[in-house]
Amino acid sequence: MKNSPAFIMLAVLIGLCYPSCKHEPIDGLDTTPIDTTGTPIDTTSVTGVPCSPDSVYFQNEVLPLLVSNCTESGCHNTIDRQEGIILDSYANLMATVDDVTSTDWSKNELIEVLLATDPDKKMPPAPNQPLSTEQIGRITKWVTQGAPNNRCDEQAGNTCDTTNITYTTFIKPLIQGKCQGCHSGSNPQGGINLSTYASAKPTATNGKLVSSITRATNWMPKSGQKLDNCTITKVKAWVNAGAPE
Ligand code: HEC
Repeated sequence: MKNSPAFIMLAVLIGLCYPSCKHEPIDGLDTTPIDTTGTPIDTTSVTGVPCSPDSVYFQNEVLPLLVSNCTESGCHNTIDRQEGIILDSYANLMATVDDVTSTDWSKNELIEVLLATDPDKKMPPAPNQPLSTEQIGRITKWVTQGAPNNRCDEQAGNTCDTTNITYTTFIKPLIQGKCQGCHSGSNPQGGINLSTYASAKPTATNGKLVSSITRATNWMPKSGQKLDNCTITKVKAWVNAGAPE
């Protein structure tokens, strides 16, 4: 019964009675995680598909935003599954959020909470930073594309240009897309705030930024896909150049 629509409805109803994003033990709620291993994403078949500037890709762009902004401790991960919702994979998004493929934003539960102005409904809730209008626009665009589980190869057809990399042109958008939800605000994860140049620079110059994205296990972005090789090479080049603004 645990994956049946009736159960998910019940879980959502129970969840709605609780303040968002606080870790409250929920009596009677089955906390067995939904199996995310059932349909592994076939990465081999899409290697080499170049990124089209006209498309938004779930694996490259949407999922990192959801993981970074919504899956922190106490929120929408497989352990806490606040309101029954899990946002750590395509399969769990589709299984636990209503009408993600609907372009009627009042029905599409994902878009509805991102666009909400009522602070009780708005996600992520304060004191977390809301997603920017631009980020929400990218997610709605992905829905209008049919909300596919798509991915592209950011390196295909490009040589990896590591010259003149600055915080403003490359590092800042990378952090905003893949790290900032966890690493900003008054209580950033791991005590690491990456939301401004001044706060990110020490993590770059002390070597932790590069080590966090290159290690073989428990890499950053946490719970996300490893950054591609070109991105890692560019981050290293930026750090080696003295982390210019
Ligand atoms: C889902 C939340 C989450 C995301 C997304 C995330 N981090 Fe982290 N990060 C953490 C947590 C939690 C810690 C504390 C250490 C741990 O639990 O692994 C941490 C620790 C760190 C540390 C310090 C120590 C270490 O582990 O090396 C660095 C540096 C870091 N993160 C960089 C990043 C960067 C860069 C990104 C984006 C590419 C990122 N993080 C994305 C949650 C996150």
